[in-house]
Amino acid sequence: MYIAQRTVTFVQGFLKSYGPSKIKKRLWDKEFSGTKWNFMDNTAGDCVYPKLEKYAHDGDILHLGCGPGNTANELAIHAYRSYIGVDISEAALSKAMKRTQECGRADKNGFACSDFLGYMPTKDFDVILFRESMYHIPFGQVQVILDRYSKFLKNDGVFIVRLYAADHKTGETKNRVTSKIDLINREFDVMETYQHADVGRSTVLVFRPRRKS
Ligand SMILES: C[S@@+](CC[C@H](N)C(=O)[O-])C[C@H]1O[C@@H](n2cnc3c(N)ncnc32)[C@H](O)[C@@H]1O
Repeated sequence: MYIAQRTVTFVQGFLKSYGPSKIKKRLWDKEFSGTKWNFMDNTAGDCVYPKLEKYAHDGDILHLGCGPGNTANELAIHAYRSYIGVDISEAALSKAMKRTQECGRADKNGFACSDFLGYMPTKDFDVILFRESMYHIPFGQVQVILDRYSKFLKNDGVFIVRLYAADHKTGETKNRVTSKIDLINREFDVMETYQHADVGRSTVLVFRPRRKS
């Protein structure tokens, strides 16, 4: 039973990164229709918020893999002008839109249902955020995707990536995640790195494309 469950988890994890958008959407919709992600109803105090509030400059935020609207509604309301959340799951987005209405932020928060590997923004942003969503970009595409989204950063715009670098139960290093962090450190101008001493080693990276001298 244990082995069967591990196999299912492995296959689903693989499909969430490498599968066609339709399959990814189905998997995420199923999860957001159940209770698995209910803990996201309250993530106030998360270590990503001070960085987001610092770099948003009262401006525009694009959040790729936004989930059920926690960031859009927990972030300090005066820290930003506009927020666009993109997610592959309609179930997550319907929660995000409901919460946005309830919080009276419909004039600031907008949402789009799309696979972020193919999403095309229509304006530039002060912050492009991947909060707990970069896990689902295949390693070989991380640089390509960041380079593509770099074109939608304003002059002083930054990427913010929030990840767990270790398993939050066992503390075992997540090698695939640390490879992505290493790639960002190697290929981009990293302005701030925050790593918490919690078991999962919560990590926030703030970075921008390397400027040509
Ligand atoms: C772990 S949840 C994180 C949600 C939210 N950012 C947070 O940290 O509270 C990952 C989110 O990324 C979304 N996601 C995963 N792969 C995606 C893709 N290829 N395109 C768009 N969204 C994706 C999922 O639907 C889910 O909402």
